Amino acid sequence: MKKQIWKYVLVLAATGVVAVVGSKISQMAVDAMKAADSFPKVDAATADAHAKIILQQKCADCHGPEADYNRFLNLLSFGLLRDHVENARRTFTMESDGSLRSGVVDYLKMDRVLTTRHMPPAAYTAVHIGSRLTPRDVAVLRNRYSVEGAAARRFAAIAPQSEPSNEWESARIYLGWLLYNDGRLSTSNEVSCASCHDLTKGGTDNLAKSEGVPGPDGKPQLGGVNAPTTYNAAGHIRQFWDGRAADLQEQAGGPPLNPVEMGYSHPSDWEKIAAKLQQDPVLVALFAYVYGDKGITGETITGAIAAYEKTLVTPDSAFDRYLRGDDKALTDEQKEGMEEFVKLGCATCHSGPALGGISFEYINTHADFRSLAVAEDYKEGAHGLADYTGKKEHTDMFRVPALRNVALTAPYFHTGSVDSLHKAVRIMIQTQTSETPTDRTVENITSFLEAQTGQFKGKSLETLTPQDVRPNL
Ligand code: HEC
Ligand code: HEC
Ligand code: HEC
Repeated sequence: MKKQIWKYVLVLAATGVVAVVGSKISQMAVDAMKAADSFPKVDAATADAHAKIILQQKCADCHGPEADYNRFLNLLSFGLLRDHVENARRTFTMESDGSLRSGVVDYLKMDRVLTTRHMPPAAYTAVHIGSRLTPRDVAVLRNRYSVEGAAARRFAAIAPQSEPSNEWESARIYLGWLLYNDGRLSTSNEVSCASCHDLTKGGTDNLAKSEGVPGPDGKPQLGGVNAPTTYNAAGHIRQFWDGRAADLQEQAGGPPLNPVEMGYSHPSDWEKIAAKLQQDPVLVALFAYVYGDKGITGETITGAIAAYEKTLVTPDSAFDRYLRGDDKALTDEQKEGMEEFVKLGCATCHSGPALGGISFEYINTHADFRSLAVAEDYKEGAHGLADYTGKKEHTDMFRVPALRNVALTAPYFHTGSVDSLHKAVRIMIQTQTSETPTDRTVENITSFLEAQTGQFKGKSLETLTPQDVRPNL
């Protein structure tokens, strides 16, 4: 950004003209680039070298590790320049050699840009002579990032759960199910994992804030953020909205020792929990069979719960059937919604088998999330990944929620402050894209998301009873 300051002075002097000219040029660019697909492939080493030059010259000003803005010009532009570079960095970052930082999701973003070809932004190409992507550039970059496989990585059917491979595994899962439903993991003996992650309610409690053990006033204490579903959680890169647990077992160690949720607070309190469970002959026998000499400890309790949670996958939604080739599984409205979901870029962050859960992303790139989605009492709430890492730049980066079964898991967002899926979709369009949501788009996408309701052991999640989620021993 620092290099070509005078060009930005030009932009500031003639913003209006540039915008008009820019959009014309960008239309021409799009037309020209449509020819890109016909370029022959080059070998990997050549593609790498060419790609590096293209990325350095045409993208790094805004997306490279050194991307920065000029303070003086920023003042002149009333902060526009800073917003531009910050938005670029929040949306997509790359190393100086062009390698992507966060795996599949950044790769899907790149694929989207090489398909829609809206980068670099029109105002930039209008003044940075020669910064437009030529058809050859697009061909080289497509080659560099092997974007051909993108469709398969964007959407994938959820694989059905395989049966436990032996009796030991069955017993461990059964034990996990017992513990998942066991109130003795809490000080009140009444709050279990299932209280807040009810598998007949899409794996949630359908409350804005979960109700933990009673406080001094005798009323349930309330959690700070909305409870996500435990269904399909095994596929998440990390657990919790702020990612503070690496996996399901580490996560399961959290609630019992959370004073608000299950009431205990110190690691040594596992001994108190174990002492209660020791009174139960069925549990004692199961622990002995599954864990032998290890007995009942924090580690064995959470290990069994995690094993049970790994079975909580929900294949065979209408969308899964569609992905497997049943064209009639989705309605026309849902298919239209799916296309818009891809076109608007929802499917970059909400991608993979669970439609999300695989990256951390900023919640307020295009609009202020809090003013749109957050009830008054949440104003000082969670800060996302920064709460775990302590790094300022991680403020407002949240683990992207998976959208499988999302029609059943209201209310929405980490705040739990939005009751309807329609409204959640509208807010996502406002905060995550530069488009203005229309009723039709919101309707179509919502209907596509309703096709995400899956099945557990052959039964729709909508009609499950507690008996259906009990594993066989
Ligand atoms: C003048 C600054 C600027 C330059 C130069 C620039 N970008 Fe961007 N880029 C942005 C901004 C701002 C955003 C976020 C807003 C948006 O999506 O329009 C963005 C978003 C993106 C995204 C994320 C899109 C998504 O769907 O999530 C990708 C990928 C991207 N740019 C790639 C590139 C590539 C590749 C180049 C070089 C060919 C490039 N950009 C050049 C400013 C820039
Ligand atoms: C009092 C309600 C409550 C209880 C009891 C509770 N949870 Fe949670 N659970 C939550 C809330 C709220 C969150 C989100 C917290 C956060 O992200 O900071 C959560 C997060 C999770 C997650 C992370 C999901 C994701 O998408 O990141 C998993 C998995 C989970 N809980 C499993 C369990 C298990 C297993 C137990 C029992 C040992 C349990 N929970 C007990 C409320 C509860
Ligand atoms: C840049 C990444 C990104 C993009 C693009 C994106 N989302 Fe999201 N989405 C998120 C994050 C992060 C959250 C969690 C927000 C929060 O609660 O703080 C979220 C939350 C949601 C939720 C609420 C889920 C729940 O269980 O609470 C829905 C629904 C949703 N997104 C739909 C969409 C739709 C539809 C689009 C396209 C218009 C979209 N998202 C685009 C990152 C993204």
